[in-house]
Amino acid sequence: MKKFKLSNIFLSEKFKKLLIHWGSITSRAPINSMFVKIFLSFWFLILLLTTILISFPLLDDRQLQDVTSSDLNDLTLVRESLQRSAELYPDATIQELIDNDPGTDFRRIYLTDLFGRLINDKAPRKMRQFILDSDSSETPQKKILTKLTYLGPVVFEHNQRTYLLYFSAPNQKETLEVIEWLIDNPFLLLLTALIISAPICAILAWHLTQPLRQLQEVAHLVAQGELNTRFPTIKNSDEIEKLANSMQLMVLFLKNMLNNQQRLLSDISHELRSPLTRLGLALAISKKHFGESKDLLRIELETKRIESMLTEVLNLSRIQLTPVQKERIALNEFLEELFLDAEFEANEYGKIFTYPRLSTVKINLYPEFAYRAIENVIRNAIKYAQHKINVKISITVLTIIVSIENDGPLIPESELKNIFRPFYRLSEARERETGGEGLGLSIAENAMFKHGGKIWAENIDNKVCMHLQFPRYG
Ligand SMILES: Nc1ncnc2c1ncn2[C@@H]1O[C@H](COP(=O)(O)OP(=O)(O)OP(=O)(O)O)[C@@H](O)[C@H]1O
Ligand SMILES: [Mg+2]
Repeated sequence: MKKFKLSNIFLSEKFKKLLIHWGSITSRAPINSMFVKIFLSFWFLILLLTTILISFPLLDDRQLQDVTSSDLNDLTLVRESLQRSAELYPDATIQELIDNDPGTDFRRIYLTDLFGRLINDKAPRKMRQFILDSDSSETPQKKILTKLTYLGPVVFEHNQRTYLLYFSAPNQKETLEVIEWLIDNPFLLLLTALIISAPICAILAWHLTQPLRQLQEVAHLVAQGELNTRFPTIKNSDEIEKLANSMQLMVLFLKNMLNNQQRLLSDISHELRSPLTRLGLALAISKKHFGESKDLLRIELETKRIESMLTEVLNLSRIQLTPVQKERIALNEFLEELFLDAEFEANEYGKIFTYPRLSTVKINLYPEFAYRAIENVIRNAIKYAQHKINVKISITVLTIIVSIENDGPLIPESELKNIFRPFYRLSEARERETGGEGLGLSIAENAMFKHGGKIWAENIDNKVCMHLQFPRYG
């Protein structure tokens, strides 16, 4: 016989899927998982707020209550006292009797006729309300306010007329005014609940997102190429810890892959040097045997080109592979010599190199790599300038930007990013004369990445301008 299953009848497919999903989440979620933490926090907070909102009015003892026997006693005593006054002063009006009540120092008597019309000249708004709410002498009531207690009514007869007697007297214990005030103003109660819950929620949210923020900072650094960034130790055994572990593994994997690739490139370049040397040797022997020919000269030129390319590739991989320490150096100490050399070199080509007065601010640098980055850019500027090369330095709280501009042919806007690619040159014809390998800017970019800085090119005011941005700290 087919087994009867309740779920087959009542649960729609969609709902079943939802239940299975929920089941898989909860079964996978250990007690200190992010899921359980967020779930329980919200649950607890909603529970707390609902409990406060529901229980608040219960704290209000200003509601009408049935009188106790001692309250009835008090009412009778007040009535008798008024009765005695009435007998003592038979001609006095009822208003005079109330005003001259011997207990007037601490209590106040109020009288109404049988229709609830107040005899007293004046009565507080709250007492008027109490008189309206409690109008039967058979079931006298009591209302406790912050400072006063209202009681009544009992029947009081005077000059053949019947009145209802109420009185107010100071409280034995004072209730908290704030509570009453809050109960009277539900919006203020809501506002207070919001104000109280805001810091709790903020602390909770801060606590839950703190490890995420730490991870985000690390991810940001990794995205900038800082693969050696230390991961924060997150020991929550929740989803964030697992995410941090996975990220750490991912970075390790990336680092290994990159290192292997760079090592391969470096090894290939290195290995290519030996056949190249032998080629140079064979070339020299050929020249000796057959004399200098146009073709041999061409072979010699291209061989030299390959050799200098290999040197640059090896330089590039050295920057990428070498683990080095940053040094704290004064800017003027670091740049002065570099700029003096550049000035000299520019003058050799009949060009003018200018730079500003150098500041003494300190900066954290890998001196050799920073030197190579700036030098490569200056070399280009001197090479491609028509007459002038000018350096500008802007120092902000966190960065130092060295901008090197030169007149001469501009770089097309579409090529401003490409020129940083290895072996990329704008036009073969143009660069053949200048004899570059197309690696200078790639080396500069790698050196800047190593610093956690950046390099970019712009055409400003008919000049090519290269900016090198170094972080001052870190
Ligand atoms: N200041 C500049 N003005 C005009 N073009 C430039 C400037 N700097 C770089 N370029 C262009 O960007 C290309 C790449 O520059 P990069 O320094 O990488 O190579 P290179 O100067 O040709 O060779 P290498 O620096 O390896 O000797 C250059 O070939 C050139 O076309
Ligand atoms: Mg160059």
